[in-house]
Amino acid sequence: MTVNRELFDQVMVPNYAPSSVIPVRGEGSRVWDQQDREYIDFAGGIAVNCLGHCHPALVKALKEQGEKIWHVSNVMTNEPALRLAKKLVDATFAEKVYFANSGAEANEGALKLARRVALENFGEQKSQIIAFNKGFHGRTFFTVTVGGQAAYSDGFGPKPGDIVHCDYNDLAAFEALISDNTCAVMMEPLQGEGGIISATDEFAKGVRELCTKHNALLIFDEVQTGVGRTGELYAYQGLGVTPDILTTAKALGGGFPIGAMITTTEIAKHLKVGTHGSTYGGNPLACAVGEAAFDTVNTPEVLAGVKAKAQLFNELLSEINDKHQVFSEIRGQGLLIGAVVTEQFKGRAKEFLVAGIAEGVMSLVAGADVVRFTPSLVIPEADIREGMARFEKAVAKVVNG
Ligand SMILES: Cc1ncc(COP(=O)(O)O)c(C=O)c1O
Repeated sequence: MTVNRELFDQVMVPNYAPSSVIPVRGEGSRVWDQQDREYIDFAGGIAVNCLGHCHPALVKALKEQGEKIWHVSNVMTNEPALRLAKKLVDATFAEKVYFANSGAEANEGALKLARRVALENFGEQKSQIIAFNKGFHGRTFFTVTVGGQAAYSDGFGPKPGDIVHCDYNDLAAFEALISDNTCAVMMEPLQGEGGIISATDEFAKGVRELCTKHNALLIFDEVQTGVGRTGELYAYQGLGVTPDILTTAKALGGGFPIGAMITTTEIAKHLKVGTHGSTYGGNPLACAVGEAAFDTVNTPEVLAGVKAKAQLFNELLSEINDKHQVFSEIRGQGLLIGAVVTEQFKGRAKEFLVAGIAEGVMSLVAGADVVRFTPSLVIPEADIREGMARFEKAVAKVVNG
């Protein structure tokens, strides 16, 4: 069988428009395609491959667990799930863990839990959910409606109700919305898909205080920022603002699908037996890989390394920009980096991504105006330099048309 991009159009639902490049193997921060062309990976599968490709610790965990037991139903528990849950609890504010298979599912669980808590503690009038314009929380109908881009949730019939939005970092607008009828506030501590926008300290602290005042649960969606991406294990730890519920996925499995919602015992108790569930959530194979990823990332060396690598990344990007003047701002935290294109390139961030692929470097966009970089947290310095040299060639090509 010839497997190529044309086959995608023949057999796949057309909701994606992938590149013609088909990667077939990866090692560390390098990837090879069907023609054996090599790429430096600054995309990491959209902030997923936190330890690059085929990291020995993850391969070992996958092989070992793969020869023991892959799956049991939630009628039984399993060792990898309990070990990973214990590690999540020990490393964070949380006391209880619910496992899912993706970011959207972790968020779906968080939102359903928040609604339950409000209903049982305060009554059915307390159902409002506040979220933020440009926020992204996944593609289930509940999470995409909570997300701050109506275009993603329009066109599917009646939406889940009592969900409102205001601008991120606009504390006055938020204060005007929140009331005793607000059951939860869902926010990313740094908006990823929305354009790599950090919450200001004042905003994060203000949201926390107002949630507490109105008995609304604060849900931090750390699907993109979690597991070391910002240089903290979780971004909330750097912000100094503790949520009531936190969701984590992407890097949690280092490339194996897994998500988790973590919270306090007091809140968790409302998801009683039978109220929510998932066939695969907490699957031993996923949790074994997740445990290896978590153990590898959650060390002072790796987390400090993220900050050092981020500094080099930012320096090299600034040097490229000094020469070519294509970015108005380089922003983000740790290895979640956004380069905002200038007015001249407005709406054309994707051209840099496409030109990069032609030069052998993979990057991402975050909206139409921001080129995004989410490389492996353990990317070697030499790969950062080589990837940036390739990216500079791509920038020059875009500039020269
Ligand atoms: C902040 C955030 N939340 C949720 C999601 C959805 O995660 P998933 O695609 O695993 O459902 C994403 C994915 O990009 C995300 O960035």
